Amino acid sequence: ISADPKYSSAVHQAAQYVSEKLKNAGAENVEICETKGYPIVYADKIINSTLPTVLIYGHYDVQPADPLELWESPPFEPQIRKGKIFARGASDDKGQMYMHIKALQGLLDKGNLPCNLKFMFEGEEEVGSKNLSEFVMQNKSRLQADIVFISDTGIISMDCPSITTGLRGLAYMEVEVTGPNRDLHSGMFGGSVANPINTLCQMIASLHDDKGRITIPEFYKNVADVTNKDREMLAQAPFSLDQYKQEMGVDDVHGEDGYSTRERFSIRPTLDVNGIWGGYIGEGAKTVLPSKAFAKISMRLVPNQTWEEISELFQKHFESIAPKSIKVKVKPHHGGQPVVTPMDNDYYRAAEKAMEKVWGKKPVPTREGGSIPIVSLFENELGLKTILMGFGLDEDAIHSPNESYGVSNFFLGIETIGEFLQEVGKISK
Ligand code: BES
Ligand code: MN
Ligand code: MN
Repeated sequence: ISADPKYSSAVHQAAQYVSEKLKNAGAENVEICETKGYPIVYADKIINSTLPTVLIYGHYDVQPADPLELWESPPFEPQIRKGKIFARGASDDKGQMYMHIKALQGLLDKGNLPCNLKFMFEGEEEVGSKNLSEFVMQNKSRLQADIVFISDTGIISMDCPSITTGLRGLAYMEVEVTGPNRDLHSGMFGGSVANPINTLCQMIASLHDDKGRITIPEFYKNVADVTNKDREMLAQAPFSLDQYKQEMGVDDVHGEDGYSTRERFSIRPTLDVNGIWGGYIGEGAKTVLPSKAFAKISMRLVPNQTWEEISELFQKHFESIAPKSIKVKVKPHHGGQPVVTPMDNDYYRAAEKAMEKVWGKKPVPTREGGSIPIVSLFENELGLKTILMGFGLDEDAIHSPNESYGVSNFFLGIETIGEFLQEVGKISK
């Protein structure tokens, strides 16, 4: 758990474990590269410099497992039930990362590794990949490759294989609203001094209009128009609104007018409160007018928004809507740029072929709503495009209690990775 310093030695142990597995699988130059944070595990297997080189990226860190009481088996004692392995990281991303190590092992055992491989596994993805950027900039020649290959996304369903062709970006903010200089008696002062929680709620509520659009001025300024081609592409993927609602136990969906549910969660920008706190939250009642209120607010971004610009626009706007009766502080956290990966190239076609061979159907291209901030850096710093070929399912419950990964997804994934590499071996550089 990279977010929680309590687990520091466990995260280091995970890096050690990954490096041993790479060695056992037959990788060479296995190195635990220390950073200011958690290490990056590098390894490679170079067989012939005239063949293409695939740079495989994954992350061995995970999100916190809380709330622990909702897990049916302990998050760090993997258990297989009903064809799925339950554990934190089973799908995001330890399980998916491990498929690449097993694919390497399988190909080497059979003596048919068809191209060069480089592995780069990090332990800080879930906290914004702070030290990976520096590592990438300082190791440009070591990381030279022809394509980046990542399994840290999902497919639409077991009978609808898909390849991810885009991810949203992320801008993450924390806000602090201060009213009076100390907590007050809400009877003596309530009604005459601004309550920072009331005010914060009003400010947050004003960030969307009644059409579900975000009200921050210029927020949509650079948003690439959704073309008919984009909409057609997305509509290829089967989608049952009833099933979607049922799975989450909601009676209705919600979002921006004029867009389908799939469009809302993949190619449109959003703003969500991730946490809000302040005042008295203990047992029973305490009549208090609190001094402070806080919230964590994140925005998912789409091409051509940048997280730096959106963070700035948010900060400016949030400060501007603060009434004189309170003070507001806005602190931007880490961010990440949105990405779209191209489909008109040999590597995408290789991925398509591999998917079709193993899953029996041509995969549909799909854009996903999550973020992998480092992907844009690979493009900007290393000049590399990425293939996002993950095998997770919505039901994997990543970041949630009882995260799982299908055992079939794991094995089919290994096979698909192998087939992809076979196809890559046929590409002339
Ligand atoms: N693997 C996910 C991203 C993801 C999830 C992509 C589902 C597509 C579908 C990744 O580990 C993740 O959780 N990223 C974070 C961002 C990060 C900066 C904390 C996210 O999307 O919230
Ligand atoms: Mn992930
Ligand atoms: Mn994640």
